[in-house]
Amino acid sequence: MNLILLGPPGAGKGTQAKRLEDKFGIVQIATGDMLRAEVRAGTPIGLEAKAIMEQGGLVPDAIITAMLANRVSQPDCAKGFILDGFPRTVPQAEALDVMLAEQGHELEHVIELQVNDAILVDRIAGRFTCAKCGMGYHDHFKPPVKPGVCDVCGSTEFIRRADDKAETVAARLAAYHAQTAPLLPYYAAQGKLKTVDGMAEMNDVSAQIEAILNPTKG
Ligand code: AP5
Repeated sequence: MNLILLGPPGAGKGTQAKRLEDKFGIVQIATGDMLRAEVRAGTPIGLEAKAIMEQGGLVPDAIITAMLANRVSQPDCAKGFILDGFPRTVPQAEALDVMLAEQGHELEHVIELQVNDAILVDRIAGRFTCAKCGMGYHDHFKPPVKPGVCDVCGSTEFIRRADDKAETVAARLAAYHAQTAPLLPYYAAQGKLKTVDGMAEMNDVSAQIEAILNPTKG
């Protein structure tokens, strides 16, 4: 099963992708995480992406598409994958169609997480992750059970993303509306687009997505 989670920054793509990964045994491919790893490693891609990401813009299509093609061809993707953060432009979506056809993969679903801009700003401002295992948290919506201690690995070190500052979030939202929202009619025309209420509670959003993936259950 191959699917895309589509939605603005902070819509919950990463949160839901991790849950689907655990439940269905398919891999999450998060282009933002891949780019942040390149930045940390100081690679040529990372050096080019760093300033763009810190300003809330989009990394050039050619870079991101080559990176994605390489990732999708890895053996662990054979059982299926969840694209989180890709595609983000119509040229990326067109390149994905070609790539999937060449590699014999089929795209089953494109699931849009619909969330209002005002809610997104609150979500992003409160977000942080465990520095050791990457578990995601939120100051109000999902704090660790024991304050200051990761639920999963017990680490006490947490990080906040450099592009989660208010002014950068505004630029990321503008990029979403100008460059990524045109993907909604693109996938609607292919008959693949489904929309869920991303403003519902996290478990409820998961249930809406699972109802799309497993329409006979529930
Ligand atoms: P990327 O890392 O993909 O960031 P994004 O799309 O901005 O998405 P986020 O990771 O911010 O949010 P999310 O939807 O995953 O939400 P989350 O689950 O964390 O991209 C970063 C940058 O990389 C881009 O700006 C661009 O520069 C570059 N880039 C990446 N891909 C690219 C591409 N294809 N082309 C070009 N450039 C690219 O949730 C957010 C918070 O809300 C969390 O704290 C969570 O706990 C909470 N939350 C989640 N769901 C709920 C809920 N239902 N109720 C309450 N709280 C919730």
